[in-house]
Amino acid sequence: MIRFFDVVKLFPGGQVALDGVTLQIKPGERVFLTGPSGAGKTTLLRLIYREDTPTSGQILVNGRNVATMPRAKVPYLRRSIGVVFQSFRLIQRKTVLENVSYLPKILGASLGERTEQAREVLGQVGLAHRLTSYPQELSGGEQQRVALARALINRPEILLADEPTGNLDPQLSLDILEHLLEVQRRGTTLLLATHDSATIEAVGGRVLVLNRGRLVEDLHLPGRGLSMAVEPQDYVRPAAGGQLQPEETR
Ligand SMILES: Nc1ncnc2c1ncn2[C@@H]1O[C@H](COP(=O)(O)OP(=O)(O)OP(=O)(O)O)[C@@H](O)[C@H]1O
Ligand SMILES: [Mg+2]
Repeated sequence: MIRFFDVVKLFPGGQVALDGVTLQIKPGERVFLTGPSGAGKTTLLRLIYREDTPTSGQILVNGRNVATMPRAKVPYLRRSIGVVFQSFRLIQRKTVLENVSYLPKILGASLGERTEQAREVLGQVGLAHRLTSYPQELSGGEQQRVALARALINRPEILLADEPTGNLDPQLSLDILEHLLEVQRRGTTLLLATHDSATIEAVGGRVLVLNRGRLVEDLHLPGRGLSMAVEPQDYVRPAAGGQLQPEETR
């Protein structure tokens, strides 16, 4: 459960990033976060995983008040939250295995344990055969799948994704999106920030709209089928009986 109570975030210089945001996200929900550039999407996500703290207001994540949480407790919070970024943020001089198993290593898992965990999550994203590759040897889509595996290795209750497909072409975006949706279908809360209204309309679900730091809409869209998210000529996956229906994507 994620709860915001009248959250305000001001940056030095007077920039208002969030302006009185109150919201609640239930366990297992799929929520899109959208709004124009500068609306506060990234700021809102950063507050959830305590990359930053609010100027005022309260934020509860799984019952913990993350605004007042002592620094020493932050690693425990982060065990339950996976994060994926637009720019992948992989460590270039480390292998896929080392990138993905970084968190278990910090948490004290043995090499054998973390290799096994990494193999499993990389298998989920179709990359179990690339353990010893380096990020620069992978395509953009593959790098983002590694980043997703890294986010999933601790079986987080919450997955935050900040424009995860922003650097990918439509076909690869669809691939990453399907992986993210699959994670949510298995029970993880998914909060996905995106500008991409075609994707939101295609997938459907709950949509939070920010504008100038204010939550201006909290609505539910029905979804039209994922194949609508890309141009028809880009959509090469054979879909038995026509386009994917929202029921199948949930
Ligand atoms: N470290 C910072 N210092 C000062 N202002 C900041 C800082 N980070 C963000 N802001 C400001 O806060 C506002 C919200 O920024 P944020 O990055 O959350 O927007 P966003 O919705 O993610 O935008 P985009 O779609 O471009 O990624 C913007 O006006 C931005 O300039
Ligand atoms: Mg942003």
